[in-house]
Amino acid sequence: MCARLNVNIDHVATVRQARRAPEPGVVAAAVACEHAGADGITIHLRGDRRHIQDEDLHLLRRMVMTYLNVEMAATEEMMKIALDAKPDCVTLVAENPNEITTEGGLDVRTNLSLVRAAVHRLREAGITTSLFIDPDVHQIESAHTVGAHQVELCTAVYAEATLGARGFHGEGAAHVAQELKRLREAAILASQYGLRVAAGHGLTYRNVGAVSAIEEITEFNIGHNIVARSIFVGLEQAVREMKEAIEKSSFQF
Ligand code: PXP
Repeated sequence: MCARLNVNIDHVATVRQARRAPEPGVVAAAVACEHAGADGITIHLRGDRRHIQDEDLHLLRRMVMTYLNVEMAATEEMMKIALDAKPDCVTLVAENPNEITTEGGLDVRTNLSLVRAAVHRLREAGITTSLFIDPDVHQIESAHTVGAHQVELCTAVYAEATLGARGFHGEGAAHVAQELKRLREAAILASQYGLRVAAGHGLTYRNVGAVSAIEEITEFNIGHNIVARSIFVGLEQAVREMKEAIEKSSFQF
């Protein structure tokens, strides 16, 4: 079965916040994504509130009809917000105030007790809990140990590798193949542990197909490339094209 697509609409809010203006609205964006066939909406409520605001979360909680996934750091401030808003899913991520975007996976292994406590509180509240981790054996084992429902494998290194590669033959192709292998092995291991497997970060129309060929991956969280394309073709068309790219499961990039 084809993996689901949650559209990350953070950068709709980035454009709005550039002017502290009412438009473009994130609820309007979410409705358009759902209309175009998105299976869910993802937002990242960052500590510095650079794009998504607290009010956006509350409005989206009421308006999103499909599935709302909220990415956040496991801080006390964010935990309280999540437990109050009760999205369908919370994805715990590592957050560094100076980063341009999330730089890598959460180190579950070295923060075992903190992550375990956060997962426990979210699970108790009936919220699906996902951990954004690097495709690494130890992180997967730790995610299982702390009781997460799901892992989201960070595809950033794979995505970066595809930027310099031309198909499976040019320079950089070996690096791409190696990163795909890491993702595939991690996805298989996570699913053997009974974890649901998602993936995301840096995925594009060109490179998503090779990852969607990995059967164990049942969900994608994709934002920047969709919002970027929407400038030229509109958000609904941009979402439809990403759904098609996922369905194609092609090894071309
Ligand atoms: N998944 C996680 C955990 C993220 O932090 C992000 C970026 O906010 C994404 C997916 C989406 O990444 P991109 O915007 O590069 O598609």
